[in-house]
Amino acid sequence: MLFDSHAHLDNVRFNDDLEEVIKRARENGVTGIINAGACMESSAASIRLAEQYDSIYAAVGVHPHDVKDIKPGDYDQLAEWTKHPKVVAIGEIGLDYYYNHSPKEVQHQALIAQIDVARQTGMPIIIHDRDAHGDVLQIIKKEAKGLTGVFHCFSGSMEMMREVVAMGFYAAFGGSVTFKNAAKLPAIAAAVPLERLLLETDCPYLTPEPKRGRRNEPAHVKYVAEYIAKLRNMEFTALAEATTDNAKRLFGID
Ligand code: NI
Repeated sequence: MLFDSHAHLDNVRFNDDLEEVIKRARENGVTGIINAGACMESSAASIRLAEQYDSIYAAVGVHPHDVKDIKPGDYDQLAEWTKHPKVVAIGEIGLDYYYNHSPKEVQHQALIAQIDVARQTGMPIIIHDRDAHGDVLQIIKKEAKGLTGVFHCFSGSMEMMREVVAMGFYAAFGGSVTFKNAAKLPAIAAAVPLERLLLETDCPYLTPEPKRGRRNEPAHVKYVAEYIAKLRNMEFTALAEATTDNAKRLFGID
């Protein structure tokens, strides 16, 4: 069994064949999927998907790209949504200095405010960090004491991975670990303590080898699992089981 800890199945690219995509996930052993919110609309869509499909759980939150559009009352709405039994995290939230679609200051404020929502509601956080490692770490250290969560699509250094683990957080890896230009990422994925490792697709993006170039989907998490199992010199089933257990523990799923 496998767990895709980060998917965007509400994306328009799944509009025509979502039933088939869910079926293929099931046929490939994917027993759980976290659908991550990226804005208020997609957070609501995540909840609808979680209501529709047993294997899907929802995260609600506003991505750094979209925080410039946050309106008064949105944070209260996020908190309200966490009362839903299938809402299991606040995310994805974070900083993105690669695109800077929202001003840095607004990104910082919104990240801190959403960490607050997580604290008030007892939710773990799903962190998006692109080219913002130093500031993300600093904010998490200062504002998220006592919280837990995951650095989705981990892209930091070996040293940062150790800090993330020391803070009680998890590191998630997806298709990018399988890419030819992955640099040190495979070595980092091999070094994460097994009990802090998560797998993900971030579908429809970041399709792993050997499917790169096509749309990504939760069934492809098996390629990430195969790749990381090899890196760690482990049996596929042992890695699949451990990472599934980790996801269930982090997100409080039975
Ligand atoms: Ni994402």
